[in-house]
Amino acid sequence: MSKIIAIHSYKGGTGKTLLSVNLAATLAKHGNKVCLFDLDFRAPSLFAILKVESTEYWLNDYLNGSCDINKVLIDLSSKLQMKDKFFVCLANPTTEAIRDICAKDRKWEMRALGRLLSLRNTLMKEQGFDYLVFDTSPGLQYSSINAIVAADLVLVATTGDRSDVNGTRRMLHEIYELFEKKTGLVINKVLDASSKAKMDEMRDKVKVVYHFPLLAVVPCFCEILRAEGNLIFAQDKPDHPFSKILEDLAKKIESDNIK
Ligand SMILES: Nc1ncnc2c1ncn2[C@@H]1O[C@H](COP(=O)(O)OP(=O)(O)OP(=O)(O)O)[C@@H](O)[C@H]1O
Ligand SMILES: [Mg+2]
Repeated sequence: MSKIIAIHSYKGGTGKTLLSVNLAATLAKHGNKVCLFDLDFRAPSLFAILKVESTEYWLNDYLNGSCDINKVLIDLSSKLQMKDKFFVCLANPTTEAIRDICAKDRKWEMRALGRLLSLRNTLMKEQGFDYLVFDTSPGLQYSSINAIVAADLVLVATTGDRSDVNGTRRMLHEIYELFEKKTGLVINKVLDASSKAKMDEMRDKVKVVYHFPLLAVVPCFCEILRAEGNLIFAQDKPDHPFSKILEDLAKKIESDNIK
């Protein structure tokens, strides 16, 4: 079963954070106990998007071995009007913390991978979490590779941009296949998505170009841009087409129907 999900991409700005937040919220709304992780240590964003004012401990501290994961967990279930379902672990956004994590060596990263891997035991087996959702940095940063290694399923967010397509193709074959990861594509920011002919053409193209399962096609929505990161669409706009697409994606993941 795909219980730990890493959302990754070759290029920046492909929609990983938007997809991570809304996928985690959708899975939680389905009654699953979910924890969303900000593993984008170079440009943390979940603290701002989820409007967390302050926290004593960050994921950085957990990966440094200076605290337990329970100290990092923040219960945001009330945002979804639920109890005990939606948690986050945040990356430290201070300049000092970003510089610190960028300077880590390979040995530190290996220990951090061990701590990431142990979450399956501490959070899933011992504390009953159903899903862990990892929002990652783009490209081949160590923290992203660690997230991919620890995941059961990698969702690759990509756009139609030529350089993104080329890089994504390479990553699919050189990274995810190498780690033998179950992998699915989400094509985001699609224009002309209302034309059925255009969508069919795109699905066919994706099959030929990537040879990996296409899990979702997400149009470019002005409402998402206009919201400026202030809304969790899955919660605040449940009838919006974007929320419906996330519903379908969550159902595919829950039924392990990734083909
Ligand atoms: N389908 C969409 N329609 C309109 N805007 C979108 C869509 N998907 C993402 N965006 C917007 O694109 C911008 C980048 O999205 P997001 O931050 O989720 O990308 P990211 O992959 O996490 O970026 P980074 O690599 O910098 O972490 C945001 O302003 C977001 O609201
Ligand atoms: Mg992001």
